[in-house]
Parts: sequence; structure tokens; C-alpha cells
Amino acid sequence: MKNRIIVFANQKGGVGKSTLCILFANYLAYKRKPVCIIDTDLQKTIMMQRRKDEKVFEGQDEPYSIQDFDVSDPDTMQQLMDSARQVEGYVLLDSPGNVSEDGLVPMFTNADFIVCPYEYEDKTLDSTGTFVQVVNALREANPDMKAQLFFVPNRIDARIGTSEENKMWKQTDLIFKKLGNVTPRIASRATLKRINTFELYATQRDAVSDCFDYMIKKM
Ligand SMILES: Nc1ncnc2c1ncn2[C@@H]1O[C@H](COP(=O)(O)OP(=O)(O)O)[C@@H](O)[C@H]1O
Ligand SMILES: [Mg+2]
Repeated sequence: MKNRIIVFANQKGGVGKSTLCILFANYLAYKRKPVCIIDTDLQKTIMMQRRKDEKVFEGQDEPYSIQDFDVSDPDTMQQLMDSARQVEGYVLLDSPGNVSEDGLVPMFTNADFIVCPYEYEDKTLDSTGTFVQVVNALREANPDMKAQLFFVPNRIDARIGTSEENKMWKQTDLIFKKLGNVTPRIASRATLKRINTFELYATQRDAVSDCFDYMIKKM
């Protein structure tokens, strides 16, 4: 099994980094692929979710491990990435978003893929643009950096946008397509708010399969 290091990142909060990280792990586990999560987010969203789930799913084997990691300094982060490189399968990292932190640099420069969720909303697009600039600056400073970007349009309203909105969305996607892959969209769905780290419900699978199948194929 090939080793892949995948970082979920966007300096904007609330775009779905932690949600998509858990859903992707659940999806890979459902597909019987080896996967683990390293939670480097300061909020520890995923670690806390697992703690809750351990009570709800008591007695059930956990489908994958979740490891907690404190982003402190670049050296320990580099060590973490070196050991992640030895893992057979998919290593998913939920990032705190704040890319300007020194300790985070090795996370991005050692990643194979950076998954960047975004919404079609002015503020989110602005910070996603800033995030892309930071990634590009890291690439320039680190010629070995090879991370491919996946932009994931997330929380898309099920209703069809106005023609004005559709035009804006298309233009956004065109810009991101020049920088990486733009995946199929993930809709805003109540079922995606009820996630856990043990199992993926059929309704959740339906909501993410187009996007995740696209990513898995390209990874
Ligand atoms: N596709 C979606 N449909 C519905 N709710 C979503 C979706 N994606 C994310 N959310 C919700 O949006 C909020 C922020 O998501 P989260 O994953 O915590 O973002 P981040 O990790 O980027 O801060 C959460 O309440 C989550 O349940
Ligand atoms: Mg988060």
C-alpha cells in the first residue's frame, strides 16, 4: 500500500477542514483502505469527537487511529512528518489553518496533497486566496515541495444559484483550476453535521462519494 500524506488546510475557519478530514477517513475505511488521522488543530475537534464516539460505540473496534499532535516547533513537526512517511496507507492531517506559524511549515512542505475546502462567499474566497499565496511562497522557498492542491467547493446550497452567482462560482473554479484540481462539489446537508469517527452513514456516503472518488483516483 502506497504512502500518502494529505493535509486538510485553509486558514479560514469553519470551511469544513475537520469535517472533511473525518469524512474522508470514514470513506477510506469503508473502502477498506488503511488510514489514520493526526490532529494538529489547536481546537482538537477530531480528537474530542473520537472521545465522545468511544462512549457511543463502546465495544466496537475503532476503524482507524487518531493521534493528537501539538504544533510546537519545526523540528518536532519534521520528525512527525518523517514518521508519517513510514506509514503504509493514507495519513490525514487536520491543520489549524494558521499557515504563518513556523511549526507548520514542514507539514506543508512534506505533504503529497493539500485538500483545501472553500465556500462561494466573499470572505472565504479572500482568505482562500491568501492561503494559496502562502502555499506558493512555501513552494518557492522549498523547491522539493511537491504537494498537489485539491480545492473542494463545500457546503454548497442545494438550490441552484442565481445566474449572477453561477457566473461568480464558475470564475472562482477557473482560477483554482490553474493552481490545482477542483473537485466535484459537496452540498450543504444536515447529515454531514452528524458525523462520527466510527462509521459513515449511507446518506453521508451519497453526499461525498463523487468528490472523494475523484480525489482517490488522482492520489
Ligand atoms: N457539507 C456540509 N454540510 C453541512 N454542514 C457542514 C458541511 N461542511 C461543514 N459543515 C459544518 O460547518 C461547521 C464548520 O466545519 P468544520 O469542519 O469544523 O470547519 P473547520 O475545521 O474548517 O473550522 C461545522 O458545524 C460543520 O458541521
Ligand atoms: Mg477544524
